[in-house]
Amino acid sequence: MKETPWWKRAVIYQVYPRSFADSNGDGVGDLPGVIAHLDYLQTLGIDAIWLSPVYCSPQYDNGYDISDYRGIDPLFGTMEDMERLIAEAGMRGIRIVMDLVLNHSSDEHPWFLSAKSDRESPYHDYYIWRDAGQAEDGPDSVGQASWKWVPEIGQVYYYQFSEKQPDLNWANPALRRELYDMIRWWADKGLGGFRLDVVDHLGKDPDLGVKVKGPRLHEFIREMRREAFVRPDLMTVGEAWSATPEEAKRYSDPAGSELSMVFGFEHIKLDQAEGGDKWDLAPLPFLRFKQVMARWQTELREKGWNSLFWENHDLPRIVSRWGDDGARRETCAKMLAVLLLGMEGTPFLYQGQELGMTNIALLEEQYNDVETLNMIRDRRKRGDVDEATILRAAAAKSRDNARTPMQWDAGENAGFTSGTPWLPVNPNYREINAAEQLGRPDSVFSCYRELIRLRHTLPVLSEGAFRLLLPEHEAVFAYERESAEARLLVECNFYGDTIPDPLDGEERGELLLSNLTGALPGTLRPYEARIYLKNRKGEH
Ligand code: NOJ
Repeated sequence: MKETPWWKRAVIYQVYPRSFADSNGDGVGDLPGVIAHLDYLQTLGIDAIWLSPVYCSPQYDNGYDISDYRGIDPLFGTMEDMERLIAEAGMRGIRIVMDLVLNHSSDEHPWFLSAKSDRESPYHDYYIWRDAGQAEDGPDSVGQASWKWVPEIGQVYYYQFSEKQPDLNWANPALRRELYDMIRWWADKGLGGFRLDVVDHLGKDPDLGVKVKGPRLHEFIREMRREAFVRPDLMTVGEAWSATPEEAKRYSDPAGSELSMVFGFEHIKLDQAEGGDKWDLAPLPFLRFKQVMARWQTELREKGWNSLFWENHDLPRIVSRWGDDGARRETCAKMLAVLLLGMEGTPFLYQGQELGMTNIALLEEQYNDVETLNMIRDRRKRGDVDEATILRAAAAKSRDNARTPMQWDAGENAGFTSGTPWLPVNPNYREINAAEQLGRPDSVFSCYRELIRLRHTLPVLSEGAFRLLLPEHEAVFAYERESAEARLLVECNFYGDTIPDPLDGEERGELLLSNLTGALPGTLRPYEARIYLKNRKGEH
C-alpha cells in the first residue's frame, strides 16, 4: 500500500516575513526574526512553514516581484540565515515551504533588463512582446491584457499584475528549463515543498485573450512536476483563484502527475456582489457557503486533496470578515478554528490567526498595499461610487489588514520591532497578543493548539468522509466525519444569537472539545462550537 504523504496529516502555518518579527530594528521582519520564534511555532504544533517570498526584490509588491530567484533580499537577511532557518526548523520537526513566483518576474530582473534593451538578447523571448501597432500601451479594449511601451526597442510587453511585474513567457522552453533548475537547486537545500503563486496563469495566451487556464497550462505543470519537483516527498500547493472542484481534482489527482493540492477560492469569493469584484461588498450567503464548502469536501474525496484556509496575506482577518471582532471575538475565532480544522484536507493558518487577530482601521494615507491604492485611484477616476463606499471597501478588504505586524506581547510595537514598524501595529495589541494567550487554557491560541494535537492523534480527522448536516439551517454549520473506527460530529453556531440546538437529543457521542465552558441544555450559545466523538469499536 502507498504510504500516506506527510502533508495529508500536516498543519501548515504561513509566515509573511515582513510582518512576523524584526531582529535588527529596521522596522521590517526578517529571517533571524523567524528563527527566534520557532519555539513558539513548535508549541503551537505546526508541521511546516509556508514562507512568503524572501528573494531579492525591489519590494514593489512585497516580494512577489523577484529580481533574483537564487538570492535572499538583504532586507530579510542572508542565504546563511535561510539555511539556518531550514536547519533550525528541521530540528523542531518543522519543514520550510517556499513561495515560487513563476508567472512574472520583477522588471528589475537581469533577464528583463536585457530583454528590454535588445531585441536580439537571448532573454528577449523570456517575456511577451508585440511590435508597435500590434498592441496598444495600457489595458486593451476588452481589458483582457495590459501592455507597456518600451521606447528603446519600439515594442510593448505583456503584464497581468503591474508594469513592474512583466509576465514570463512560458512558451519558451529555455525559460522553463531555467526555472526548473532553480527549483531543484532550492529543493536540494532541504525544503519541504513549494507554494506556487497564481499557478493557473502560467499558461496564459494573449493571442487568445486568455489569462487563466490557457491551453498549455496542465502540460506545463506536468512537465514541472517531472523536471523540478523530483523529490517525491515535496509538498506543492498552487494558488488557483479560477479553480472549480472539477479542476482542483485534475491539479491534485492522487496519481501525482501535477500538484499535491491547490488553494481554491470559491468560498472566499462569496461575500462580493454579483458581477462585481472583491471591493463590491456583500454579506456572506450562509446556505450557499455551506454548500460550497461541502461540495469541495465531497467532490475531492479520494479523487484529489483539499487545502483548508480562511486567511492569507491577501485576505482580511476572518473574525472581522465573517464573525465578531468585538465582544465575542475569542469565542468566534475559536468557532471558526473548529469549523475549519474539523474538515478533510491540509489546514493552512496565517500568522496571527491563531491569536484571533483582527482587521485594522487605517487612514487613507496609511495604506501601503499597491492593490488597495490602485483601487482607490481607479474608483475615484471612474466616479460611479461615492467616497464613503470606496473607503469602506478598502477598510473591509485591503490586504493591509493581514499585513499589520504580528502581535507578540503588550510591550512597545507589540514586541515586533524596536524601530518604526513598516505598517502600523494594530492598536489592539495590548489586549490581543501571543504572550497573553500562550499559557491561558481558554485562549484562541490554546484552542488552535488543541485542534492541531487532535489532527495529529485522531485518524478520523485526516481520513474520515465528510457529510454536511442540516444544509438548510440558517445559523448552524454542522457536519460529520466518518471512518471505519470513528464518527466525529462538528456543530457550530455561526452567528451571535442564542438558538435552540437543532441536534439536541441525537446520539452524538462524547463531547471532545468545546469553545465555551458549561452548557445550556438544548441550546447553542452565540458562536458556540462543539466536536463530539463516537468510537465505533465495540459497535455491531
Ligand atoms: C498572489 C499573491 O498572493 C499576491 O500577494 C501577489 O500580489 C500576486 N499573486 C502577484 O504575484
